[in-house]
Amino acid sequence: MAAELIDGKAIAAKVRGEVAEKVRAFQAAHGRAPGLAVVRVGHDPASEVYVRGKIKASGETGMVSEEHHLPEDASTSEVLAAVERLNADPKIDGILVQLPLPKQVDEQTVLDAIAPAKDVDGFHLINAGKLLSGRKDGVRACTPFGIMRLLREAGCDPAGKRAVVIGRSNIVGKPMALLLLEANATVTVCHSRTRDLAEEVARADIVVAAIGRPELVRGAWIREGAYVIDVGMNRLESGKLVGDVEFAAAAQRAAAITPVPGGVGPMTIAMLLSNTVDAANARIA
Ligand code: GUN
Repeated sequence: MAAELIDGKAIAAKVRGEVAEKVRAFQAAHGRAPGLAVVRVGHDPASEVYVRGKIKASGETGMVSEEHHLPEDASTSEVLAAVERLNADPKIDGILVQLPLPKQVDEQTVLDAIAPAKDVDGFHLINAGKLLSGRKDGVRACTPFGIMRLLREAGCDPAGKRAVVIGRSNIVGKPMALLLLEANATVTVCHSRTRDLAEEVARADIVVAAIGRPELVRGAWIREGAYVIDVGMNRLESGKLVGDVEFAAAAQRAAAITPVPGGVGPMTIAMLLSNTVDAANARIA
């Protein structure tokens, strides 16, 4: 393997250490720890695992965290009522509604009900709009924000580089493209209707794959010396967990690459905690 492995676990641990330091300073200044509330609706098994991870990690930094679990058949107005209570709770600095929500719940209505200053996922229209407008004072979506940190730690400055983002979701692809653009990369967004994905990827100095299709990005497509970030988490029938990139072959060509697991995943949680302590400080300021 020629590529450097971008160790998301180690970099996330470093970020969590920085957060713990800020939590101690906040506690000393204000006599309470920053508070994170996680709202989970129903019984999505993956969400259960993710939320447990978020609650545990926030506790380890010294924050106060609470989980609000609503039943599978909760209505939009019941979820909204929970969000409104948390919006009004002075001890809560960050609110996260775990997605996906059961289908009877209107996801966008719920996300837009979160007070923008407490929207630590960065999914609210106001925060999405601030990112689009180049404003620095919005909350940034955790996964793309974490990827920018991974690139920085790997020694990759996006300025002037060709970046290809594969996937156009509101959670990853779109905010990722905007953050790379803000960092002065030349950005192309690819998706299911892109005519020749191989050709686009072959030109890229930075590839971010976030499509949720196992090993769709072939190693042979990767340009020599590219930085490869794999957001995919796909469970094969064999039980093996693979990313959206054909890892071993891509690692032969890349300068640096994230593993799956242990790459982007741990950073998403670390940036959530970072956003929460920043939201606490911003609310008090
Ligand atoms: N579901 C999958 N990823 C995420 C995330 O980053 N935040 C929330 N709230 N739900 C998710």
